[in-house]
Amino acid sequence: MSDWIPVKQARLAESAGRPCEIRGWVRTRRDSKGGFSFIEINDGSSLGNLQVVAPGELDNYASEIQKLTAGCSVVVRGELQASPAKGQATELHASAVRVLGWADPETYPLQKKRHSFEKLREWAHLRTRTNTLGAVMRVRNQICQSIHRFFHENGFLYVNTPIITASDCEGAGEMFRVTTLDLERLAKSGGPVDYSFDFFDKPTFLTVSGQLEGETYATSLGRIYTFGPTFRAENSNTSRHLAEFWMIEPEAAFFDLADNMQLAEQFLKQVFSECLQCCGEDMEFFDQRIEKGKIDQIRGVIDQPFQHMTYTEAIKVLESSGQKFDYDIAWGSDLQAEHERYLTEQHVGGPLILTDYPATIKPFYMRVSDDEKTVAAMDVLVPGVGEIIGGSQREERLDVLSQRMAEQSLSEDDYWWYVDLRKYGTVPHAGFGLGLERAVQYVTGMANIRDVIPFPRTPGSAEF
Ligand code: 4AD
Ligand code: MG
Repeated sequence: MSDWIPVKQARLAESAGRPCEIRGWVRTRRDSKGGFSFIEINDGSSLGNLQVVAPGELDNYASEIQKLTAGCSVVVRGELQASPAKGQATELHASAVRVLGWADPETYPLQKKRHSFEKLREWAHLRTRTNTLGAVMRVRNQICQSIHRFFHENGFLYVNTPIITASDCEGAGEMFRVTTLDLERLAKSGGPVDYSFDFFDKPTFLTVSGQLEGETYATSLGRIYTFGPTFRAENSNTSRHLAEFWMIEPEAAFFDLADNMQLAEQFLKQVFSECLQCCGEDMEFFDQRIEKGKIDQIRGVIDQPFQHMTYTEAIKVLESSGQKFDYDIAWGSDLQAEHERYLTEQHVGGPLILTDYPATIKPFYMRVSDDEKTVAAMDVLVPGVGEIIGGSQREERLDVLSQRMAEQSLSEDDYWWYVDLRKYGTVPHAGFGLGLERAVQYVTGMANIRDVIPFPRTPGSAEF
């Protein structure tokens, strides 16, 4: 029987006195003049390492222990004792140190020197062995767990929607094609593409959103959410865009826009507050090293009601701001990241829910308001990131939906099943999509979205 415990547990003061085994990777080794060595071990369970004290009497002391370098994997047995050193409650006095794998210091990339996050992306297979990336991934995990918990507790069913689809939910045409056609042969033949020879008998793509399928489940099961990968072939080389990202999309029957906004606010607050509760050590790290004041900022967000503003009001604020923007603003044009960030960072100084956007800049499925110019849309903006949630009340009236589809040149035949939901027992309903990586960016303060997903996919980059 093994008495293995994770480093996280071994570091607790109450673990002192206990014999145990720990398994992990060496961060550093320091030999003492007294004829023993200190080895810092990390196993990913916490930001903090466990200090191992390896006595010179161990039979592999000279042959192995004194050769340990960063990245070596080890299994250490011994007894935990209260530590006299600062910053740690315990240390492990080793009775045996077994080396499982060596890491040649000549070639192992993660040496003591600090590397930029750009550089670390080149070693995405190893970068979670660093403090920052390890902390990011523990917080990302916590956010995912909290999301599932929130929806489960609120009666939302978890639904898995397809990844391969024939419909463009957002209508932006930024989809990756899925095909088994031989592109090289097609190019040589020079002829037109005949999709009847393709795998699905028609053009298919990677989904940009699970919403449309989600709506079919909401209009039978009531409250549902999806949580899956989504794909966008937009050529945006920014710190907030990925070609492959994860989206959480709740959808609720009998919800209007006000219900939807309330859900989004409660949802974000619960997820943020669980991060502070469950990832205290990692959050302290982000607060000190990545974005000063992050913890107080999040506490403020949890305590204060979110601010609300219509798109029309936002345009007025931007016009009278006296700010110089790269993109002009006028009623009817889409807000750019710079505008969103001005509103949430400078004007409000916290989360902001923007509503009632012009119908012309929003997808066909959003509910047209009585003014016939705007739709019941909502975006949630947060400082540092901008938009993290986009959502709306859905158009439940068959005639209005048909008209909107015609305006956007969408064929009702292609979306026949979506249209059916309005023919058979239609109900008001609403939902939204949270970009997981944008949420992780916000909570951690990480500047670039590529550093909050394990293996980022961006234009020109699909390594690993
Ligand atoms: O605003 P979007 O495009 O909304 C939808 O897809 C709706 N169908 C959601 C719904 O109502 N069910 O995307 C939702 C969120 C954005 O607010 C943003 O956080 C994130 O997805 N997002 C991206 N995240 C990373 N990289 C990208 N390229 C993203 N595009 C959108
Ligand atoms: Mg959006």
